[in-house]
Amino acid sequence: MEKLVIHGGPPLCGTLPVSASKNAALPLMAAAILPHGVTHLDHIPHLRDITTFSHVLRITGASVERKGRGLQIDASRIGFPEAPYELVKKMRASFYMLGALLGRCGQARVSLPGGCAWGPRPVNLHLEGLKALGAAIDLDEGYVVARLPHGGLPGGSYRFDPSSVGATVNLLLAASVGSGGSRIENAAIEPDVIVFCEMLQAMGAKLSGIGTRTIEVEGIRELQAVDYSNCPDRIELGTFMIAAAIAGTPGEPVHLTHTRPDHLGDDFLDAFQKTGAEYVVENGSVIVTPPEAVNPVSITTAIYPGFPTDLQAQWTVLLACAHGKATVTDQVYGDRFNHIPELARMGLQASVNGNQVTVSGGARLTGARVMSTDLRASVSLVLAGLVASGTTHVGRIYHLDRGYEKLESKLSQCGIDIRREQYDEFSAPNQG
Ligand code: EPZ
Repeated sequence: MEKLVIHGGPPLCGTLPVSASKNAALPLMAAAILPHGVTHLDHIPHLRDITTFSHVLRITGASVERKGRGLQIDASRIGFPEAPYELVKKMRASFYMLGALLGRCGQARVSLPGGCAWGPRPVNLHLEGLKALGAAIDLDEGYVVARLPHGGLPGGSYRFDPSSVGATVNLLLAASVGSGGSRIENAAIEPDVIVFCEMLQAMGAKLSGIGTRTIEVEGIRELQAVDYSNCPDRIELGTFMIAAAIAGTPGEPVHLTHTRPDHLGDDFLDAFQKTGAEYVVENGSVIVTPPEAVNPVSITTAIYPGFPTDLQAQWTVLLACAHGKATVTDQVYGDRFNHIPELARMGLQASVNGNQVTVSGGARLTGARVMSTDLRASVSLVLAGLVASGTTHVGRIYHLDRGYEKLESKLSQCGIDIRREQYDEFSAPNQG
């Protein structure tokens, strides 16, 4: 297995480039199997989740090839409308194949994703929504078996409660091809969904209301393959803004390049400014000036444009560096706190009560051997390692590799003492 070894202390300085978005890339890849042709997607990050999803697409008969910083997806020969358990269990977003295969083949057999590292993540809205638009849905030995009536998806209307990124994507994938009209209410308005809708539109899909809570779709017979460019990763930007605020030298700007700060939503940006950190936006870069002292600022996650749940673990580390008490409340996932016991091993003073963590900041964190449990938890451990005294070993970084591209090389170019090492989880500490 691999781990990251971080010697805390050296400040973060210089320029950190932000990679292309993982969570926007995945629906774009799913959309690429709708037309009978070759799609070129530019700015697709080198990540484990992209590799996994490429395999999922290949199972159906698509050819997926890496071309520099992008992907070429040839969907001329899709013949096997299935996403098997072995791949879906590795990455929940494989469930996008339900809508994509229905749109392309009129039928799909897709494994139910099951739980995830931090608890249950239901897919009821995906299934109820597709049924409301006219798909027949059955469950068979852990698989969803979906079928459209002859002539394609008849269309219909469905209101999400709560609004869901994944379910909005799935319904749009299925509804863009066909003969009927569909109306999706309380649709997700996350930037990832907007970028995806704009690609569908470029492919010829008849969508209106993009970026609003009500999207209407008029199914058409066939979509065209296109060349399309992905957006920067908003969660990586937020993670790097937090890193700069806590691990930079007070008063010395850190430059984050290739960014879309407007994709972060106002709640994050407002909370960030209240910490005392300053930022300016200049030509696609965010320039963060770390504060002398970090103010404790409580946050509550919410669906976009609220504070992203994907940044709450990282915010907890920021609060550990602030003097005083503050809370992190997660309203999107009530039990996404697996990082807390690991951070406690580094000296974090925090208590969890239901969906809220109270952090008493100010005590210096100390390096320790800690273990990643999921993607955002693992990056919170890396952030803690930057500010801790001594050496932090972050194990099981296969979680981190799902969503952060070349993290250690980016950080080491900014002065951080970090390296990747092989290790044996069961060996004694002095053996690695
Ligand atoms: C997306 O997951 C992201 N994943 C997640 O990113 C992110 O945490 C999440 O949105 C929330 O922002 C991808 O984009 C691949 P949802 P998704 O359906 O689509 C409830 C990361 O670290 N819900 O918008 O699965 C659900 O429980 C991750 O990159 C239902 O009740 O999230 C949650 O409370 C992990 N029934 C809320 O909706 C359903 O059928 C929003 O979830 C579906 C969702």
